[in-house]
Amino acid sequence: MPSIMPIFGTRPEAIKMAPIVAALQQSDHFDCVVTVTGQHREMLDQVNELFGIVPDHDLNILQQRQSLSAIMTRTIDGLDRLFAENKPDAVIVQGDTTTSTAGAIAAFYHGIPVVHVEAGLRSGDLFSPFPEEANRKITSQIASLHLAPTGTSKANLLAEGVNTDNIVVTGNTVIDALLTTVDKQIAFTDPQLEDLAASGRRILLVTTHRRENQGDAMRGVGRALARIAASDPELVIVLPAHKNPVVREAVLPALEGLSNVMVTEPLAYGEFTRMLSLAHVVLTDSGGVQEEAPSLGKPVLVMRDNTERPEALEAGTVALIGTDEERIVSEVSRLLQDQDHYDSMANAVNPYGDGKAAERTIAALEHMLNLGDRIAEFGL
Ligand code: UD1
Ligand code: UDP
Repeated sequence: MPSIMPIFGTRPEAIKMAPIVAALQQSDHFDCVVTVTGQHREMLDQVNELFGIVPDHDLNILQQRQSLSAIMTRTIDGLDRLFAENKPDAVIVQGDTTTSTAGAIAAFYHGIPVVHVEAGLRSGDLFSPFPEEANRKITSQIASLHLAPTGTSKANLLAEGVNTDNIVVTGNTVIDALLTTVDKQIAFTDPQLEDLAASGRRILLVTTHRRENQGDAMRGVGRALARIAASDPELVIVLPAHKNPVVREAVLPALEGLSNVMVTEPLAYGEFTRMLSLAHVVLTDSGGVQEEAPSLGKPVLVMRDNTERPEALEAGTVALIGTDEERIVSEVSRLLQDQDHYDSMANAVNPYGDGKAAERTIAALEHMLNLGDRIAEFGL
């Protein structure tokens, strides 16, 4: 049986790879060998625990305040040693993290075909998001099979000259993960969050971590949140803080002592999706959250100037607002106060998937390895 090696290292990759790992493990056609880099530690382990994933190999590369070069070199070095003894028939990498691109490069150097999940996203600006736009373009150059989540991402790949035979539109596996998790209404481990859920108070759910927003922009986000909290005492701001100390040092000082701001540790995925379903408005610079919140009908304000995920923008449930402090305050306030505006954004749309992306991924893999026919694509 061909052995397939999913390689991942961060929280969002783990969430989006989990449905694929489950489908590979159930398949009679493949051996699944899970390798994690450990680019994230706690945030990765949290996801693997929820989905019952026990890695076969763990490169454990995390360093506090790690550089991009360290992630790249430690991953390639670790995989180089692994592939010398354990060479899979194909690797699967997901998205645009440095783990993902390093995994693709290491596999390419060993002559192992690279399957790229969530292929073809493009913001059009090499420096935003940084380094993700470059990472995903590099991976597209060396992948053998490109699994695009949407027709738009497929069109981006075609425009760059990727052969149409090597692209399959699958939908995004994040919707598979979301749909199998959110309905479980998982209990919060923190009793204060259970009390909040029971209170019915309006929740502004916030996440931030983007490298290009760190520093001044993120300090401005902290100040904007403090102003929003002060102007609406009935509102509760929930901020599950990313583990990155650079993020915490920038955002959290402005929020100290504010009674309607709840700063938590990263929430386990089940708890986070429940919080998303309870939220009134979502304010984020996350990629995955931009894809999930529209499925739940939640308006999303994205603290970036561009996005590689235009589909929900076009559907009207996502708005790009940048990172300017005044603009964040005014856009959030408008959504909280103007019901017509709120209603115009709070539409449940599913441009990113239908929950069957992992199934299509396995079928595309079978086709690549001459074990099955080409399948119908998502949304086409
Ligand atoms: C990484 C990805 C980014 C993705 C994000 C998801 C790259 C270059 N960046 O960014 O594309 O959107 O993950 O969250 O691949 N830390 C811990 N424990 C953890 C996780 C992080 O201590 O479980 C701390 C460490 O100090 C680490 C720092 O956070 O050095 C930053 O982590 P890193 O993976 O380098 O960058 P992210 O901003 O998380
Ligand atoms: N998420 C989570 N717990 C949290 C915050 C986010 O499980 O406290 C999930 C979220 O549902 C989404 C993913 O993490 O699926 C997004 O990860 P992140 O924002 O770190 O990375 P990005 O998607 O921007 O690469």
